Amino acid sequence: MTFPTSLCPNAMQVHGVHQETDDVWTLELIAQDFYPYSPGQYALVSIRNSDAVLRAYTLSSSPGLSRFITLTVRRIEDGEGSNWLTQDVKPGDTLWLSDAQGEFTCADKGDAPFLMLAGGCGVTPIMSMTRWLLANRPNSDVTVIYHVHTPNDVIFAKEWRTLCENHPQRLRFRLATSASVSEGFLQGRLSEEQVRQHVSDLTKCIVMTCGPEGYMDEAQALCERLGITPERFYQERFHSSAENADGNGDEIKMRVRRLAQDFSVPVGATLLYALEQNRLPVIAACRSGICGSCKTQILQGDYTTSSQSTLTDDEISMGYVLACSCRLTGSVEIA
Ligand code: FES
Repeated sequence: MTFPTSLCPNAMQVHGVHQETDDVWTLELIAQDFYPYSPGQYALVSIRNSDAVLRAYTLSSSPGLSRFITLTVRRIEDGEGSNWLTQDVKPGDTLWLSDAQGEFTCADKGDAPFLMLAGGCGVTPIMSMTRWLLANRPNSDVTVIYHVHTPNDVIFAKEWRTLCENHPQRLRFRLATSASVSEGFLQGRLSEEQVRQHVSDLTKCIVMTCGPEGYMDEAQALCERLGITPERFYQERFHSSAENADGNGDEIKMRVRRLAQDFSVPVGATLLYALEQNRLPVIAACRSGICGSCKTQILQGDYTTSSQSTLTDDEISMGYVLACSCRLTGSVEIA
């Protein structure tokens, strides 16, 4: 018997594991108790059923509609969580999930038309919300533009076809690929032309977008150019890519005062990346700015944070950050 962990108290039995593409699998789970969630939310999953390693995955199912709670997971080489979930977990096993989390949901946004922009595995919350909107918001039309690397990378291909057949008046679904020209696919990266061609009224629509970092930057810049105001623009960024540096090759210094040592790290890296790359001790259970295990004190320097959720005001004023959610923009000194 596995006991619930403090962050992941919800037991789920694995009903099935289905391969979606070469590197993406969907796990179907049966919740042992009522499990409330909103379309688009995510949960932390306890990897190997312990609190030591937690990973965040979108709930790709839709509340009230899907037979199972589902997680759709891309296997990442060397990814501890994704390898365990997609290669080792079998039907009959028990997984432990946190309560559903996150603000990225369409459920509180009324009857507007929706434009969903998805890149790669970022389609998981988009599917959850599209399915939910079509069933629950009869006055909301939905346009989905889904960018994949190659035509073989389309996740939920069969279900997208079914949704299009069942909602021909309300769902506009377009696939796009940056690979060579393929029948049925828009060609090239996300562009103004692609959006203008497929959305009739940009002045009213709510944009929801999810995908890898580069895609999200493009989506945000594009929506600004198209005049989508911030109150109508919602995004969910994949946290896994947040550990990467900016990639411009510049380096900054990270001084560790207690060791009286300096380390060179790429500008734009997260503090967690910088610590792990230099084999400095740090515990990082969720890597998503949720659990608080990676709390670290920065004594001085330049950085930005994307989550401070477990920190008190006093800790923040003393320079404590969550290393997984702190990006180094200049040289820093840590305690
Ligand atoms: S690892 Fe959980 S908040 Fe950073």
